[in-house]
Amino acid sequence: MSTIYEARAVTRSFDVAGERLDILKGVDLAVESGELLAVMGMSGSGKTTLLHILGLLDRPTSGEVLLDGVDLARAPDVRRNAVRASEIAFVFQFYYLLPEFTALENVMFPALVASGTGLIHRAPEGRAAREARARELLDRVGLSSRLRHKPDQLSGGERQRVAIARALMNRPRIVFCDEPTGNLDPKTASGVHALFRELNRDMGQTFVVVTHDIRMADAASRRVHLEDGRTVAAPSEAPT
Ligand SMILES: Nc1ncnc2c1ncn2[C@@H]1O[C@H](COP(=O)(O)OP(=O)(O)OP(=O)(O)O)[C@@H](O)[C@H]1O
Ligand SMILES: [Mg+2]
Repeated sequence: MSTIYEARAVTRSFDVAGERLDILKGVDLAVESGELLAVMGMSGSGKTTLLHILGLLDRPTSGEVLLDGVDLARAPDVRRNAVRASEIAFVFQFYYLLPEFTALENVMFPALVASGTGLIHRAPEGRAAREARARELLDRVGLSSRLRHKPDQLSGGERQRVAIARALMNRPRIVFCDEPTGNLDPKTASGVHALFRELNRDMGQTFVVVTHDIRMADAASRRVHLEDGRTVAAPSEAPT
């Protein structure tokens, strides 16, 4: 395994009503190609803040965010946007599917956007190729019998499976997930945990998953904790 993505000495502070809040105080985190990394920590510890910085949705106050060793923290927006469109995908707690579109169309959507920008080289090109890949991905997440369903005709677990299939559409290097099972009942959540593990194992997909859910963390190949603004190895990995 090799490091594809890295946070070095990342800090993030917020100014609120004249008061300075230091949330991230020097995070060092290397993401290895092919791993399923769980990022845990108490509510308010800065997990979402860190995920947004890694996912180029936010910039650190100081420190570096390196893709293949090249710093993106201070890169111009146009460069960051291109990387975000072509190398990265997201899965969020509340799915954010397009309500008017079917499962199949939702999954095809990122490739359609990509073809409009010309940014993405790994995305399937042409309607037939896009649809074939979307069908294959929906089949992979167990939804081949729900292609024409719209989000409000799907269960929560099925919606999250559509969102996961959509995230994989353009063959991202890394998928960042924020509490992907936070809105699901335990049984449905465990199906989604198993799906992440399978996609990681069978496709070698790299995932960084922020989670409170100990069972999600159990499905991961590695765990780190955010504590007092820094990452520490998860207690379960520490010597007992
Ligand atoms: N834009 C912002 N302005 C001010 N404070 C912020 C901002 N974003 C986050 N914070 C603060 O940073 C801290 C960390 O927030 P963050 O959302 O990263 O926590 P989290 O670990 O994801 O928590 P949870 O598990 O509840 O989702 C919180 O105390 C929050 O109030
Ligand atoms: Mg959060």
